[in-house]
Amino acid sequence: MAKTVTFKDDSTGKTFKYPVLSGTTGPDVVDIRKFYAETDMFTYDPGYTSTGSCESKITYIDGDKGVLLHRGYPIEDLAENCNFAEVQYLLLNGELPNAKEKVKFERDITLHTMLHEQFHNFYSGFRRDAHPMAIMCGVVGALSAFYHDSLDITNPEHRRISSYRLIAKMPTIAAWAYKYSLGQPFIYPRNDLGYAENFLYTMFATPCEDYEVNPILAKAMDRILILHADHEQNASTSTVRLAGSSGANPFACIAAGIASLWGPAHGGANEAVLNMLREIGDVKRIPEFVKRAKSKDDSFRLMGFGHRVYKNYDPRARIMARTCSEVLKELKIKNSPLLDIAMELERIALEDEYFIEKKLYPNVDFYSGIIFEAMGIPASMFTALFALARTTGWIAQWREMIEDPQQKIGRPRQLYTGKTKRKFVPLKSRK
Ligand code: CMC
Repeated sequence: MAKTVTFKDDSTGKTFKYPVLSGTTGPDVVDIRKFYAETDMFTYDPGYTSTGSCESKITYIDGDKGVLLHRGYPIEDLAENCNFAEVQYLLLNGELPNAKEKVKFERDITLHTMLHEQFHNFYSGFRRDAHPMAIMCGVVGALSAFYHDSLDITNPEHRRISSYRLIAKMPTIAAWAYKYSLGQPFIYPRNDLGYAENFLYTMFATPCEDYEVNPILAKAMDRILILHADHEQNASTSTVRLAGSSGANPFACIAAGIASLWGPAHGGANEAVLNMLREIGDVKRIPEFVKRAKSKDDSFRLMGFGHRVYKNYDPRARIMARTCSEVLKELKIKNSPLLDIAMELERIALEDEYFIEKKLYPNVDFYSGIIFEAMGIPASMFTALFALARTTGWIAQWREMIEDPQQKIGRPRQLYTGKTKRKFVPLKSRK
């Protein structure tokens, strides 16, 4: 028998029955689409802690067990055995590519990495000290002014081309934001390099001398991109879906996603972790900061700790910690005071009653900043890196939404607690 849930309005004694929908795994959901029409009430769920906003086949998270699957594949397997292009293909198309499909996909992306020459003018309009995320929001939004030939979202070929353009240009956009901050010439991507390699090349090469991308660092970067590629209906992805639900073009939607990612509670946490570790400065000061994080009277939180969905170790954080050791070894960094502080902080927090009880574990951002810093990437670029990796997930989710026959414009309702209708007071009579 189909499962249902009965809702009883105690004030009238009326009952209402709602169907329960089951996914392939994970908690069932109560289908309340007719709730307002039948009960004349809305549901109330600020922060959407109990609300499923869409049906999706892309990413599954079991937060209690610390499981993350993309199209059914565990993140550990993907990070170990695939390159980022394969994961991008998987997220976009639902299946891993075969060897021929992989080559074609990588080539197709490579052919779109350049930015229109006029973007030089866009960059020069920013202050040199602009945050890279401010530049990313502006430049990505501006792409819609350059690619009028692919803005018809009802046309699958337009959707494909604009997806490829976004994915391909994002590393160039991010690297150029960095180059602009330094006052160095922009470096053009090279078609003989892979995705992560091209990002490192456009970040660090100069026209003055040859630059060889370190293959170990390129591999580590590739893996970091995989770890950030998608994460179900988080704030920025939901922002992309909500923006896209009105029919806005994908460049505008991804710019909206970048804006949402910027906040310190979301993608901005990787930059905040490094700033926090620097502020702690010495392992001896860790107890002081742990005490502050636990205090009700202090707004300070341990950045890189806690997650809305994971109530267990974030599986991405484990892989990130391992990658961190590999990168430091490759760069022959024997003493990393920041890593020492991070490891000790993790140890202390994981044994602390407050963090145990609230199920606060390190998340993906906890170790990534240390890796980026070791690679010579400044803290202000960390969230930009997250954005370039997450672009693939955003696009996969945006495409899934556009192709969903049930898709409607997103329009939440509210619990209104403001003034009710009152008499207008003309200016001369106002006190
Ligand atoms: N340090 C200290 N206490 C914390 C922390 C933390 N990092 N995170 C949550 N808490 C406490 C919080 O004070 C609250 O306590 P109480 O129940 O006594 O009021 C309880 O744990 C639940 O926190 P919440 O804010 O209601 O939980 P949430 O699901 O709304 O927030 C979060 C999740 C990630 C925003 C939060 O854990 C946080 O601010 N973490 C630090 C920022 C961070 O690392 N963000 C990156 C998230 S992973 C990357 C991404 O997806 O973008």
